Amino acid sequence: MTAFPDPLPPWRDLLRRARDREGRAPQGRWLQLATVARDGTPRVRTLVFRGWARPAALDLLTDGRSGKADDLAGQAAVEVCWLLPRARSQFRLRGQRQRLDPERDHKERERHWRALSPSGRAVWGWPTPGVPLQAGAPFPAELPDDAPVPEHLLLLRLALEQVELLDLRPHPHHRCRWRAATGWQEEPLNP
Ligand SMILES: Cc1cc2nc3c(=O)[nH]c(=O)nc-3n(C[C@H](O)[C@H](O)[C@H](O)COP(=O)(O)O)c2cc1C
Repeated sequence: MTAFPDPLPPWRDLLRRARDREGRAPQGRWLQLATVARDGTPRVRTLVFRGWARPAALDLLTDGRSGKADDLAGQAAVEVCWLLPRARSQFRLRGQRQRLDPERDHKERERHWRALSPSGRAVWGWPTPGVPLQAGAPFPAELPDDAPVPEHLLLLRLALEQVELLDLRPHPHHRCRWRAATGWQEEPLNP
């Protein structure tokens, strides 16, 4: 049997066009990841989008020692908010952190690690995030290309189940939703 790649869900093209409007600005790759902490309260922070793993799955990188890693170990459901200001558009992506089998995870972490710049890698050479600052602790500015993949480099692969767009350009504003469960059919909503 021949395997055909899954077609792209319709929101992928809209998201790409909105990101294109940001040009080369790094902000086009910044998104906000919301998680639920173990005490049931919300957490949100900015992360860099690291690429599409599948038509409806994206990759983020973080530190396995960080608070969000613990949140996700307790609750795999996430929401991502991706604001593309030049397109005056907000995309909200809901899904679950997907666990990869150890071999795949190893390969994918290695691939992402090699794609980082020396300064991009550096933060994984820093001490445990979120704990009190210790005088004299090392904070390298760069890690070389041949640096081994740190154990605490955590790949977050988010498998998306729902995407919602709010576009402020037209009057009235345009809001719609797509759900994986309905084959990503577009559902227009009141803004
Ligand atoms: C523009 C920007 C990009 C960031 N990118 C990442 C990233 O890709 N991965 C990451 O773990 N933290 C990134 N951070 C830091 C996070 O926002 C956050 O402060 C850190 O991961 C600790 O979060 P936590 O304590 O909720 O786990 C970025 C921060 C900013 C301002």
